[in-house]
Amino acid sequence: MHNNFLYVNGDRFIEFIDKEKIQNRIKELALEISKDYKNSVPIFIGVLNGAFIFMADLLKNITIEAEVDFFKLSSYGDSKISSGQVKMIKDLNCNPNGRDIIIVEDIVDTGLSIKYIEELFQHYNPKSMKVVTLLLKPESLKYEVKIDYIGFKIPSQFVIGYGLDYQQKYRNLPSIYILSNDGVN
Ligand code: IMP
Repeated sequence: MHNNFLYVNGDRFIEFIDKEKIQNRIKELALEISKDYKNSVPIFIGVLNGAFIFMADLLKNITIEAEVDFFKLSSYGDSKISSGQVKMIKDLNCNPNGRDIIIVEDIVDTGLSIKYIEELFQHYNPKSMKVVTLLLKPESLKYEVKIDYIGFKIPSQFVIGYGLDYQQKYRNLPSIYILSNDGVN
């Protein structure tokens, strides 16, 4: 029985992926990535703000040499629904030219952000580019995108916590909570 509810502006969220499960899955992902890049020094590039916690926990478990950078896109504003537009609002510091790039995302929903990122990075001429996302909503995908490492596939419902926000809040929750107004459990 779940009794770990959170009420936000009249919406009910329920704990969906607890912190141990998140950490265990991240260890598995980090092991797999470390093996795949054992002959390289990749640059992990986090998409702000959502990916900052996942990026930190992932990198703590990476066992090869690696570099880190971040950039920031804006797409959702303060809404729960995608506006369908993406803007770059903080640029990279690193030079991806000729490097192995690993894009680190918190969640892939419609795929619009990843599509935009794929096109953007083509101009930087990286040696390779892969994408790791903690969460993927397969039924929400509207764009054809290739996601190389996936933490968890989840239903098309709004989630918060572990870096993911609702109106910029709740990123600090160590577990992931799902909107449960429509009767999840
Ligand atoms: P996409 O471009 O539609 O794939 O959405 C990607 C971005 O939307 C993510 O990086 C998040 O910032 C945001 N997003 C998508 N779904 C959720 C959610 O359920 N909770 C919080 N943010 C979300």
